[in-house]
Amino acid sequence: MPLVNTFDMLRKALKGHYAVGAFNANNMEIVQAIIEAAEMEKAPVILQASQGAIKYAGLDMIVAMVKNAAENASVPVALHLDHGTDLEQNIKCLRAGFTSLMYDGSKLPFDENVANTKIVVDMAHACGLAVEAEIGQIGKCDDSDEPGVSIEKAKDTMAVPEEAAEFIKQTKADFLAAAVGTIHGCRTAFAKLDMPRIKKIQELTDCPLVLHGASGCTDEEVQKGISAGVCKINIDTLIRMAFVGKMRDVLADKPNEIDPRQVLGPCREAAREVVRNRIRVFGCAGKA
Ligand code: G3H
Ligand code: ZN
Repeated sequence: MPLVNTFDMLRKALKGHYAVGAFNANNMEIVQAIIEAAEMEKAPVILQASQGAIKYAGLDMIVAMVKNAAENASVPVALHLDHGTDLEQNIKCLRAGFTSLMYDGSKLPFDENVANTKIVVDMAHACGLAVEAEIGQIGKCDDSDEPGVSIEKAKDTMAVPEEAAEFIKQTKADFLAAAVGTIHGCRTAFAKLDMPRIKKIQELTDCPLVLHGASGCTDEEVQKGISAGVCKINIDTLIRMAFVGKMRDVLADKPNEIDPRQVLGPCREAAREVVRNRIRVFGCAGKA
């Protein structure tokens, strides 16, 4: 079926108390892995491309791959821009056929974040698209970080509920990526979500909340988040780990292999299994 509107997908999830997985893709095998997983689990799914992925694969290539895969899929698929930090990138994605955008002005002062987010929201809404925006700062895990260090790092820059409410009131953004205890790129699940903060933000904004850096969360932590209003969950690191980890295994096993399909095929399967597992944990299986 054609790509679907992300707004409808997430409002339905918020109502139904489950979360839709938003999985990062930057090549054909990962796109296929995500869509196959969603089909096997009969789940709606969001494919998202970061600015880095767009630079790597090319905007038109990403859109063509995802559109083609969606059109041949038996489940609803949305295409979302992840962490678009400039207006130009948002405009390009809107024109190219994305079904939702993200303006990430979280590193800017509050007023500037509001002003820029508002520009993207006004533009997107005029074209019928929804926008995700970010408040607080969701940091990045260093490989060397001990669990305690990363949890402390996350605490420093969490979203303030009253500011989040003001932010949504002024910008009219549709989905809110609020910093609530996770950080990006964790290879071990040690994030601790600030539940009272999530509940307060949800209560004050009535906005579908987005959990970034969710590779660093245990299943229980993720499910606690969903019970408090998280309905889009971003996963990138777990897919990378599965994909490249399998590549290492295959090459160690067959050091003379030169057929990319013999290497990348198993990587695609490994990524697919991770995505299937997350979809089940998010309560999204069977919701297509
Ligand atoms: O925006 C993308 C995500 O927040 C992914 O986070 O790499 O920790 O899975 P992750
Ligand atoms: Zn993120």
